[in-house]
Amino acid sequence: MSQHTDVAFIGEDDSEYFRRLFNRTFNSLNPTYLLPSDEDEVKRSELHHRMMQFVFQGNNYVGEVKKALQFGQQRRVLDLGTGCGLWAINMADEFPRAEVIGIDLAPLQPRTVPPNCTFELCDLETGIPYPDGYFDLVHARSMHIGIRDYPQLLQEAIRVLRPGGLIILIEPDLIPIVDGSRITRAPAGVGAADWSTFWETYRSCLTRQGIDITVPQRLTEMLNATGAFENVITRDGNIPVGFWPKGKWTFIDPHLLSVGQLQWLDYDLFLPALRPMFLFHGLTENQVQSLITGAQRDLYHPVAPLSAHINIVHASKQL
Ligand SMILES: C[S@@+](CC[C@H](N)C(=O)[O-])C[C@H]1O[C@@H](n2cnc3c(N)ncnc32)[C@H](O)[C@@H]1O
Repeated sequence: MSQHTDVAFIGEDDSEYFRRLFNRTFNSLNPTYLLPSDEDEVKRSELHHRMMQFVFQGNNYVGEVKKALQFGQQRRVLDLGTGCGLWAINMADEFPRAEVIGIDLAPLQPRTVPPNCTFELCDLETGIPYPDGYFDLVHARSMHIGIRDYPQLLQEAIRVLRPGGLIILIEPDLIPIVDGSRITRAPAGVGAADWSTFWETYRSCLTRQGIDITVPQRLTEMLNATGAFENVITRDGNIPVGFWPKGKWTFIDPHLLSVGQLQWLDYDLFLPALRPMFLFHGLTENQVQSLITGAQRDLYHPVAPLSAHINIVHASKQL
């Protein structure tokens, strides 16, 4: 962690940046972000990063990143809600002349990092603590669930991007796909009903926390609404979850199978990670237990193929 105006310097003892809630560890900066900040969540963020690298055919990004960071530019990269920090570290390795900064609510990132990579502690709901036009590239992945005013975050991203700079936004949907269809309400007696109920409960908790659960589907619309971007490109698609059985369903290619395995492992950690959030919102221990074990049944013994929809948008700030 490095020192920067408005952000904290983390020394050896970082305990003040964490708090305990229902037997898991959370960040202490933003009490409304109710996913844990602990070892399992770091593992989940690492799995998510590996999965996205498969999705991007071995790359860390989509879009004209090399052009945005070419000679003559400032070569500064910002990762919003960096989590385990692997994206920032990989970018710093790939672009040794760039300065890569990852921001998060909790000091979860490794202490030994490439010399051109730093991590800062800051609540992005209070803004992005950098000057106008400072960055060539802003990246935000799977972090809208900690931002109650996403359009405001976009305004901040526009402010800190130089004209011509690139933004990359990636957000997985909060509505699961069962047997190829988006399921918002669990249909009784249909496969993966417990899986759908779990996601429905999650969405309702986030809504109560003031999170706009429609952000993932509306990334492109929201970027366009700012009027600040050009070359807006949307790429979205379905990610298989797990090891789809052969025979009954169409066989998927080995590449997608790796994506599915990583997504499955991510979800295996995700289900218990929501226990504190559910308890915080007043569900009883028994209700939470039954929600999690039901979803685990559908994950471990699927009677219908599960998928997750991922939304990816990249664009350049107008010159
Ligand atoms: C689900 S993790 C995703 C991490 C990483 N971007 C990835 O793709 O693996 C979301 C991260 O965003 C961070 N985050 C959420 N809300 C935030 C906020 N208001 N300010 C800063 N970081 C935030 C969380 O602490 C968490 O590490």
